Amino acid sequence: MPDYRAFRIHNDEAGYRAGIEGQSRIEPQAGEVLIRTRYSSVNYKDALAGTGKGRILRRYPLIGGVDSAGEVAASADSRFREGDPVVVTGYGVGVTHDGGYAEWLRVPADWVVPLPSGLDAFSAMALGTAGFTAALALYRMVTNGQRPDLGPVVVTGATGGVGSIAVDLLTQLGYRVTAVSGKPEHRGFLEHLGAKDIIGRDQLPGGNRPLETAVWAGAVDNVGGEMLAQLTRTMKPWGNIASIGLAGGHELHTTVMPFILRGVSLLGVDSVDCPYPIREELWRRLAHEWRPPHLEEIVSEVVTLEGLPEVFERMLGGHTRGRIVVATSARD
Ligand SMILES: NC(=O)c1ccc[n+]([C@@H]2O[C@H](COP(=O)([O-])OP(=O)(O)OC[C@H]3O[C@@H](n4cnc5c(N)ncnc54)[C@H](OP(=O)(O)O)[C@@H]3O)[C@@H](O)[C@H]2O)c1
Repeated sequence: MPDYRAFRIHNDEAGYRAGIEGQSRIEPQAGEVLIRTRYSSVNYKDALAGTGKGRILRRYPLIGGVDSAGEVAASADSRFREGDPVVVTGYGVGVTHDGGYAEWLRVPADWVVPLPSGLDAFSAMALGTAGFTAALALYRMVTNGQRPDLGPVVVTGATGGVGSIAVDLLTQLGYRVTAVSGKPEHRGFLEHLGAKDIIGRDQLPGGNRPLETAVWAGAVDNVGGEMLAQLTRTMKPWGNIASIGLAGGHELHTTVMPFILRGVSLLGVDSVDCPYPIREELWRRLAHEWRPPHLEEIVSEVVTLEGLPEVFERMLGGHTRGRIVVATSARD
């Protein structure tokens, strides 16, 4: 009799497929923690992994889900005790190691972050990797001198998970935000989060010259490709671009001119292998001074494990908005 349910992904001679399966519980080994999960979430990467439309997983079969929040059920590491509320994002979760789309998660204790007061399992997963990544982008920009008085910050892929949290967070901290979105029907949502200007994907200012009129003091880019190239050409002197995503393409065709003539910085954002001390610090900030004020409204849906395949297709088709939380536990 299996002990719990999990959304498991296979890739073998029978093809790429995923669905709910029964699993047996395993006690934590030395240095590991067993988590009774409450919630997970859906990130772009989860949709790529769950459908096989991106090469995300490094081994099969694997339980999907790069995010998890819940309580420690058993710990074989002295840093954690039964009942501790915790959050896990990134590292190998849902990529090389079974992930958060299950009622139980067993992971190395080194990957587990104590949930700071001010966040519960639901709000931690409303943030999830997307919220953590928006905070990491801001952290990298601020560390490199970003300030609200330097000028506007543009956010691409603005109605997505990372994008909507970035718009909310930057606005709360006093930045003037321009949101770039391909979804005119969600204009009201972006205005509500605080975006001062909202433009379509084909309305970014500037042409194809290596340097165009300087507009942006900062940029949070979830799209990549031609949109990122266009941002490099239109940054103000010493502006920062946080490169997060590739929803529009993974290539970047630009010149060195913005970097050597305007001192523009292209800052890489890697939420997966973010060093643990920064990770802890960012979760603490997200619970307090960096808590997005409209977090609950940014959650557009709460789904169960059964709902995942349909959500994945919608997300990859560009038809989701904000964050999608996954209720993992069928018990209680
Ligand atoms: N570096 C990291 O550590 C890290 C962490 C998390 C996510 N990411 C990446 O960041 C990106 C956003 O992730 P997410 O979870 O927020 O995904 P998401 O919720 O699906 O958001 C992506 C947004 O990008 C826009 N978009 C989609 N397809 C596009 C296209 N073809 N051209 C231009 N814009 C397009 C859409 O916004 P509009 O309709 O409003 O334009 C969409 O809502 C993904 O590429 C993801 O892989 C990276």
